[in-house]
Amino acid sequence: MLEDRLYKRLEQRALKGNLRRLQNAETQRVDFLSNDYLGLAQNQNLHKKILQSLQQANLPLWGSTGSRLLSGNTAAAEQLEYQLADYFKAETALLFNSGFAANAALPAAVATRKDVIFYDELVHASIKTGFRMSFAQTQMFKHNDMNDLAKKLKRWHGRAECIFVMTESIFSMDGDSPFAYELAELCKEYNAYLIIDEAHSTGVYGEYGEGWCVEEQIEQAVFARVHTFGKAFGSQGACIVGNNILKLTLINFALEFIYSTAMPAQNLIVLSESLDYIKSEEAKYERNKLFENISYFNKKLNTLKIRNRNKEGINSPIQILPIPDVEACKSLAEQLQRKGFEVRAILSPTVPKGKERIRICLHSFNTQDDIDKLLQTLKEAMK
Ligand SMILES: Cc1ncc(COP(=O)(O)O)c(C=O)c1O
Repeated sequence: MLEDRLYKRLEQRALKGNLRRLQNAETQRVDFLSNDYLGLAQNQNLHKKILQSLQQANLPLWGSTGSRLLSGNTAAAEQLEYQLADYFKAETALLFNSGFAANAALPAAVATRKDVIFYDELVHASIKTGFRMSFAQTQMFKHNDMNDLAKKLKRWHGRAECIFVMTESIFSMDGDSPFAYELAELCKEYNAYLIIDEAHSTGVYGEYGEGWCVEEQIEQAVFARVHTFGKAFGSQGACIVGNNILKLTLINFALEFIYSTAMPAQNLIVLSESLDYIKSEEAKYERNKLFENISYFNKKLNTLKIRNRNKEGINSPIQILPIPDVEACKSLAEQLQRKGFEVRAILSPTVPKGKERIRICLHSFNTQDDIDKLLQTLKEAMK
């Protein structure tokens, strides 16, 4: 009975052409897919340092053995949080096992049924999970549309105890960003608490990779920032940064923090080394190379007259080519894969129906030759 129902649901997906299946990602193709924007996951110098630190640490325990509130808290975790808070220019930081867990925990821990949460229509599934777990009312605003947000904030003025605004610094499926100054000013005007998911900008924006809010100098105007370590940090995990009262609230009310086994010591060592590396001049060099590749990619798109979403291009490692048809989009991605490029078609329900696209992630280690060949192949395949 249940299997029949599950089967039917899967069959409907298959009929629409968007059934998800696992694919082995260990390929020899040129990487235009991963979130390893600065190549940290494959950086040999960093690997050596991590191995050395692991050997020197001579860890007494391989697992953390419990939640941070029980047997899983260590001086190393607290020390790392102290360093992260300093790096992200915040009062405090609290570690989570993933960005998904951090986003799911945050709104549910801070908002109540007396509150309202405004969210950008394109926010990540983890943020939606979070505010569904809170009892707050929710209001969607149009993607990066500050006029729409202003209109809705005005309508809600005085009708909720606390107002939250949740958005992302770089949208994962679109690569674009909100208008920092306008966003911060609006939240100030309406006494709204701003929460920003910095998953894709952590390590990428800011002189030393401190993220988008620091680069845009709005970090003081933001109530909470979620930084993740699975992307430019080349590792896994996340932290929420903000003030002392936020940290204590999360320790007391964030279910994903309270009822989950803490990161083991070896992960803390990996993160600590990755943090040291991302602050280094070597990483700054990689960051510059990434931005050179982004502008080269955008210039090339123009020269080849390939339709991007906007003429100037987007100054972000995530680039989008709209192909608003499931089969055409899938076929194009397959052609690129056959020619040796690792890219994926992004289909509904990850993006709305009719907004299918090829998503291209740029990295510091992609060469201009890789980009030339990718775009030339794309141009020919699009004919
Ligand atoms: C915008 C955004 N937020 C949060 C996450 C979740 O982060 P993590 O992979 O660390 O769970 C992702 C991951 O895809 C993301 O793209």
